[in-house]
Amino acid sequence: MEKFAGAEEWVPPRGGLPKLEAALRDCRGCDLWEHAEQVVPGDGTAKARMMLVGEQPGDVEDVEGRVFVGPAGRLLDKALDAAGIDRDQLYVTNAVKHFRFERRGKRRIHKTPAAGHIVACSPWLTRELRIVKPELVVVLGAVAARALLGTGFKVTERRGEAVELPDGTAAMATVHPSAVVRSEEYRRDFALFVADLRAAAALLP
Ligand code: URA
Ligand code: SF4
Repeated sequence: MEKFAGAEEWVPPRGGLPKLEAALRDCRGCDLWEHAEQVVPGDGTAKARMMLVGEQPGDVEDVEGRVFVGPAGRLLDKALDAAGIDRDQLYVTNAVKHFRFERRGKRRIHKTPAAGHIVACSPWLTRELRIVKPELVVVLGAVAARALLGTGFKVTERRGEAVELPDGTAAMATVHPSAVVRSEEYRRDFALFVADLRAAAALLP
């Protein structure tokens, strides 16, 4: 695993989301800031009872500087709507805060963050969890699962199950919305994703 210094020294030990967001802009905890347009902070209310954690910003998010506003974000919105969950009541963020990609001509192709990037960026996620203190964390896909539930956790085997983060916070893992976007069995996979989100909402005390 490639080792990076990690985000720790940039993460403010105190303060709320605005302070965190300001500090995030200076982060040099790994090499991903160099080629990305900008860092993409989490979005939503610090009062959220439910926190959603994705992978990393995509091409559109990198340009706009906001989480889940591209194709995966549109699908997520649609699925949340179908599950009766109001996005305004959530806090939504990513395991990795800068976009990792490969250039192919003019296009920028998404590249999954490496284990070293996930580890390097995790102090931001830890701090977000401390600030928001969600009652439930919805883990979207394998990268978020790796960040929050460890390397042994298999989303494909355990999606929809009530689980716990190491600190005892209630959680549930499901697929990443971009996997549904790309699915050849879109209707089925969209319905399964909505069912997981609905089950997650039902876990809230
Ligand atoms: N995929 C993610 O995991 N997060 C985003 O913000 C956009 C796409
Ligand atoms: Fe810092 Fe995370 Fe960006 Fe790396 S990906 S530079 S650790 S914010």
